[in-house]
Amino acid sequence: VQSPALGVGPSYRPEEEKPTATVSREVPHENVHVLEQTPQLIALLTIIRDKNTERADFIFYSNRIIRLLVEEGLNHLPVVAHTVTSPVGKDYVGVKFEGKICGVSIMRAGESMEEGLRECCRSVRIGKILIQRNEETSKPKLFYEKLPPDIANRWVLLLDPMLATGGSAIMAVEVLKNHGVPEDRILFLNLIASPEGIENFAKHVPKVRVVTAFVDQGLNEHNYIIPGLGDFGDRYYTV
Ligand code: URA
Repeated sequence: VQSPALGVGPSYRPEEEKPTATVSREVPHENVHVLEQTPQLIALLTIIRDKNTERADFIFYSNRIIRLLVEEGLNHLPVVAHTVTSPVGKDYVGVKFEGKICGVSIMRAGESMEEGLRECCRSVRIGKILIQRNEETSKPKLFYEKLPPDIANRWVLLLDPMLATGGSAIMAVEVLKNHGVPEDRILFLNLIASPEGIENFAKHVPKVRVVTAFVDQGLNEHNYIIPGLGDFGDRYYTV
């Protein structure tokens, strides 16, 4: 199934002035939130999907999308009423976040999202989970986990830029649940998802809230997302 092509730009601009671009498909799951398909987001995604984009640009523009994902993810945490007094002696009725959070990155690619989380949440605790796929059986296997000891009392922002089959992300959620974190206190932040990965994830861990920048067309025979951007970890860290 082809992804939708739409005029990209603000609603007040005439359609004929908006260039047509491939935008994210929508998904019928209440807990899956796709970032607004703004001209900036589409332009950033266009850069990182380009096979000719060199590593320095790949890192810079991926980081900008990661920042958008973190800011949107934080909007899904509960806040309580909070009034402050301004320097001119007037009250401002606002809100504040009350609760504890932590990040958990799925290694290696998820580690690229840690800095974006730190930029928004100073000195945030960050745990790590390493899951790798058995080459023969294609089944994910847990190799390493290091999590904050009080993780059961925290909101968890789970970080992985690419959601392909969903196998690793589902296993990571199971690890968190085994440590006492309820599904509905986990937010999964993701750059590009496949429709198959979204379906699989929503079926197995339906209460986890997903914030993604884009739901792509599908998977190829090697379980790479298409059109995707290739191997995120390689492009961010090595090639
Ligand atoms: N992981 C990646 O880095 N890219 C994909 O396309 C799928 C999984």
